[in-house]
Amino acid sequence: MVKKAVIPAAGFGTRFLPATKSQPKEMLPIVDTPTIQYVVQEAIDAGITDILLIIGRGKRALEEYFSKNYELEDQLREKQKQKELELINFLPDNVAVHFIWQHEQNGLGDAVKYARHHVGDEPFAVLLGDTVLESFTDKPVIRHLIDVYNRYEEGVFALEEVAPELVSRYGVIDGEDLGEGIFRIQDMVEKPSLEEAPSNLVVASRYVLPPEIFTALEVVEPGKGGEIQLTDALRLLMKDQPMYGYRIDGIRHDMGDKLEFLKTNIHFGLKHDDLADRLKAYLKDLVKEF
Ligand code: UTP
Repeated sequence: MVKKAVIPAAGFGTRFLPATKSQPKEMLPIVDTPTIQYVVQEAIDAGITDILLIIGRGKRALEEYFSKNYELEDQLREKQKQKELELINFLPDNVAVHFIWQHEQNGLGDAVKYARHHVGDEPFAVLLGDTVLESFTDKPVIRHLIDVYNRYEEGVFALEEVAPELVSRYGVIDGEDLGEGIFRIQDMVEKPSLEEAPSNLVVASRYVLPPEIFTALEVVEPGKGGEIQLTDALRLLMKDQPMYGYRIDGIRHDMGDKLEFLKTNIHFGLKHDDLADRLKAYLKDLVKEF
């Protein structure tokens, strides 16, 4: 049973400066809700009850967001603002959120390494804290990955089909198509050229991993930019254990990217009960000017 999730959220967010100088990119809102809340909710909706956030300098707002604000609660109760009270009390009682500091920002692989003690000898989920995955099915993406994990009892990560000209930005897989969106991974290439890319399926911010990944993370050498890359540890682990991919049926919203941030806010705004009509009218007017 996968009951624990690790959410790396300690990165500097250099693509989103200056906003991220003193606030976590994971707190950037989608309309009125911080990105991290969508990520945590995805884990909760998948049956996860133990969540570990990897944070670091400048990320205190994440801790505060998941702790109780008694003063605010008292005031909302006094003013009988029931709806607002529910909005700030979003964590179910059976879910625990923990925090650990990554002392130096040495990459995603290094961030995951900090979870070793907390996770112990169990499979666990990894969800990148700056990326929202909107599922088009009745289950969250991480639930699909847990189902694949339970079926094969091997590590699995999300795959996204991207336009061929975009492959050079991502980790790209070579894999055998097993049907139902599942692939047995044969190889992975980090940021290949269009000609070198074995497919247009890229690794997409969600993983369910066996505990052996921690041993692999201990031995991999720092890669690009002196950082410990999770992809390198996965490639090492693949020498001993099969690894699977699951092609997502949905949209990936990378909130650490400025254009994606704007697009995601418009996308969710257009689905928002109170805002949709007014936003649509505004956008229609706006496009006339271009
Ligand atoms: P990114 O690859 O987006 O890196 O991290 P970044 O440093 O945060 O952002 P840029 O590229 O400088 O703008 C993917 C996820 O891994 C976490 C980030 O917080 C993000 O959720 N991460 C990354 C860590 O927790 N620690 C790190 O050392 C690096």
